[in-house]
Amino acid sequence: MDMTIRPRRLRYGETLRKMVRETRMDPSSLIYPIFVREGSGITEEIPTMPGQYRYSVDTMGEKLQSLTDAGISQVIFFGIPDHKDEVGSGAYDADGIVQRALRRAKQDFPELYRITDVCMCEYTSHGHCGVLCGEDVDNDRTVELLAKTALSHVEAGADMVAPSDMMDGRVAAIRTALDANGYINTPILAYAVKYASAFYGPFRDAAGSAPAFGDRKSYQMDYHNSREGVKEALLDVQEGADLVMVKPAMSYLDMVTKIKEAVQVPVAAYSVSGEYSMIKAAAAAGYIEEDKIICETTVSAFRAGCDIYLTYFAEEIAGYMRDGRIG
Ligand code: PBG
Repeated sequence: MDMTIRPRRLRYGETLRKMVRETRMDPSSLIYPIFVREGSGITEEIPTMPGQYRYSVDTMGEKLQSLTDAGISQVIFFGIPDHKDEVGSGAYDADGIVQRALRRAKQDFPELYRITDVCMCEYTSHGHCGVLCGEDVDNDRTVELLAKTALSHVEAGADMVAPSDMMDGRVAAIRTALDANGYINTPILAYAVKYASAFYGPFRDAAGSAPAFGDRKSYQMDYHNSREGVKEALLDVQEGADLVMVKPAMSYLDMVTKIKEAVQVPVAAYSVSGEYSMIKAAAAAGYIEEDKIICETTVSAFRAGCDIYLTYFAEEIAGYMRDGRIG
């Protein structure tokens, strides 16, 4: 055959394939979500997320150490309190679970970059992401409490705060609260494009944060919408978000690409609990090869354009990057 251009030419041999890779990543762009709970001496496997654990403050160091050893020095903390109430007071308690975890992490792992999820669903007795007015989440009152929560995280040692509640105006309120207290250089990673998704199922089990009634559709986005995601991201940037996130990742990579074009700040993608658990379950059943699927899903998120990837597989992925399988 007379053919000048043969795309296969660039696919012969691992060296050449690596040379022409378009997507490059390294462990510095991975963030590991860690669950911390009350109590002591606890390392409790999460039934719906095999291989993931809830740690008490005194045991989380084991995981932080293995992450650091794997080259991952950035984590996002999720708190699981013992006490829940109508107004989620545990979220902004100076001695709350996340606040104590932060102080301990700062003391034992000073090099660790500590991010916190700012939300109320783990702390409210009704499981919604804010305070209620009747059956509705009261946006403006919730925003005040979110700002209070973010500030208390930063006072306890958070390097970055990540509001995940999807209330309107929370980024501006958090920025104002942080600035007013002198934390002008603490960045905000906004969960800007967060969909109402069944992919969060295992997380809600892990954190005991499923809503007691109704759903989150009046604050999290309808997954039929794409332009609305751009609107949310632009608004958050306008309000002062330093980075924005798309969540979930796998079924929303179109949004990652779109947001990357629309904003001039770093874009994160969160591969959520359901994505993790589906891979774990299918691999355990022998239907797929876990390591290969992890590599493929990770690269696809970066190929779509994310700069940062939040994933429960962070440690495994760092290993695959180190081995040169991906990266
Ligand atoms: C808190 C929050 C959730 C997740 C991150 N922050 C749960 C939710 O919105 O219901 C989900 C993370 C995951 O599924 O891994 N609002």
